Amino acid sequence: MSNSETKINRRTFLSNSAALMAGGSVFASTALSYGRVLGANDRISLCHIGTGSRGTELDWIVSQLRTSHNVEMTGVCDLWRLNSEKAVAKNAKFYGRAPRAFQYLEDVLALKDIDAVIISTPEHSHSPILKMAAEAGKDAYVEKPMGNVLAEAKSARDAVIQNERVVQVGTQHRSEPHPRTAQELVQTGVLGDVSKVEIVWNYHGPRWRGREETKLVREEDTDWRKWLLTKPYRPFDPQVYCEFRLYKEFSSGIPDQWMSHAIDLVHWFMNDSFPRSVVAHGGVFAWHDGRENADTFQALLEYPKGFLVSYSTSFGNDAPGFTRYMGKQATLINIGGEGSPRYQLVQEKGTHEDDADIDEKRYSKYVLLPGETKLPPIGIDDLSLGHMSNWFECMRSRQQPHCTVHEGFAHSVACMMAAESYWSGNKQYWDTANETILDRARKDTLE
Ligand SMILES: NC(=O)c1ccc[n+]([C@@H]2O[C@H](COP(=O)([O-])OP(=O)(O)OC[C@H]3O[C@@H](n4cnc5c(N)ncnc54)[C@H](O)[C@@H]3O)[C@@H](O)[C@H]2O)c1
Repeated sequence: MSNSETKINRRTFLSNSAALMAGGSVFASTALSYGRVLGANDRISLCHIGTGSRGTELDWIVSQLRTSHNVEMTGVCDLWRLNSEKAVAKNAKFYGRAPRAFQYLEDVLALKDIDAVIISTPEHSHSPILKMAAEAGKDAYVEKPMGNVLAEAKSARDAVIQNERVVQVGTQHRSEPHPRTAQELVQTGVLGDVSKVEIVWNYHGPRWRGREETKLVREEDTDWRKWLLTKPYRPFDPQVYCEFRLYKEFSSGIPDQWMSHAIDLVHWFMNDSFPRSVVAHGGVFAWHDGRENADTFQALLEYPKGFLVSYSTSFGNDAPGFTRYMGKQATLINIGGEGSPRYQLVQEKGTHEDDADIDEKRYSKYVLLPGETKLPPIGIDDLSLGHMSNWFECMRSRQQPHCTVHEGFAHSVACMMAAESYWSGNKQYWDTANETILDRARKDTLE
């Protein structure tokens, strides 16, 4: 961000448009010897690990790119027979031949003809599976958050770096055209000094409770111990299996699920990746249905560049969502939740205290794509193709994709700090030198 306090006039405000950002940096070395080196005309051979609800969406996304990006889902892997069978049937339709079905990911990772895996299992298994995939020489697309246990997220990141894998972490809004244009606009410095980012994303309903799958899953059709993966044994529970987002051992709920998207966008827009400190609060106030994770949650995160982020979600009221980047020269408002495509830039001029009508006198403009004449919607559908296509392109060029393991690690750290603050009641601090979360500030990081 620029430190300049100069007033911007109408012309500079309206014409300060996005400069195209250069693509990612190139990896220093080529693919490792145990991985197949992809030729320009080679078909990318994929296996999908965890083909549940998000997995079905990702399968559709890949299928839309099968010709343009020359890819095929040649295998599907799910512990649960029902979801595995569904994925085989769907992919057989997409590609005209059935993929191989696997129950265990170890069998997939041993195969030389699989170039890469998509990981859309529940979040407690993202990092452990990513690590195994990287060590087996596979590129990967891994769902967000990249991890929710610090040591596991670190090991996964390190394994990806050591094995020079191309990994895309699934915060797909980074690859959508409106957020990309808005991010570029912020890089021009048009907002002036940003001291606060406010995020509100709401929903009305007992979110993540009552999934139909809980009535279908039976222990004999899956492998419960393998599902638990790194967690201690507990008796099979169909609700934990399908509604893992509500149980703290597997997910932090709102931070892992929603804040991971939100804070990932803030890190990217603000070019500042690890919070210095985080406080959070919340509770089960709206839906007393046995959930362990909060249905009402708020976190405050302080960043080294000198700004505060407020993240807030309520499941007991659907008041409109927004994100506001509040600078001394302008506010960028993302109207709608979860990186919706509608962004508005509003000039900062005067104060409400001096002029009750000041809002009408502030210049504003919507962030539109070239040729776009209608306002973009305020909803999102999670089905955009750009993030997946970016990954395929990077697999061939060995460039860094839009959300690398470094960025996935950073959004995971922010979410883990928020969750830990909520659970412990203590402010959490990030110790950059040791990559550790502390519950009291180190003297030398406070200055
Ligand atoms: N990027 C997005 O917008 C977005 C949207 C929704 C969900 N997600 C992410 O997707 C993940 C999955 O969510 P979901 O709703 O699809 O869950 P789900 O329960 O519907 O699907 C998970 C599947 O993984 C399988 N599985 C679990 N452990 C496995 C293992 N070790 N090996 C093989 N298969 C295994 C399960 O049997 C199940 O079929 C979540 O972590 C969530 O954060 C991302």
